[in-house]
Amino acid sequence: MALNLRVWLTACAFSSAVITSGSVALAAGSSAKAKPVRESAAKATEENPRGLVLSLSCTSCHGTDGKSVGIIPSIYGKPTEYIEASMLAFKSGARYSTVMSRHAKGYTDEEIRLIAEYFGRLSHNKK
Ligand code: HEC
Repeated sequence: MALNLRVWLTACAFSSAVITSGSVALAAGSSAKAKPVRESAAKATEENPRGLVLSLSCTSCHGTDGKSVGIIPSIYGKPTEYIEASMLAFKSGARYSTVMSRHAKGYTDEEIRLIAEYFGRLSHNKK
């Protein structure tokens, strides 16, 4: 059951990411006539859906979109650089934490970068 929910969530995340990057590519294509097709495709890959999918594991504690409703700090509203640096510091143990160090160790530096970019972009776009 728990596995089914996870698969379902991942599938939803993928489809919404595809829709989002699709519309970004469309918007880029229609507003700038001179832009080559390859550039809009590059823009779509820039919005890597993996960041969104990975970020779902954070929302169980940090709230939907990283907006916490409890005592755990929000990720939403924090810049990419801050989130990435914090995660790397948790991972190395340079920054003290109760749970984040164990959590951060489960991700590669590249995955951390993708998650940080996802949350950074989310806050930036919705401001
Ligand atoms: C099990 C609950 C839990 C999960 C899951 C979790 N966090 Fe955290 N997070 C915390 C807690 C608790 C803290 C406060 C530091 C500590 O004691 O670990 C924190 C702190 C942070 C901070 C520092 C916030 C600040 O204001 O400095 C960042 C950034 C962060 N988490 C990012 C993430 C990301 C990204 C993920 C997903 C990959 C994630 N967290 C998943 C519980 C969680």
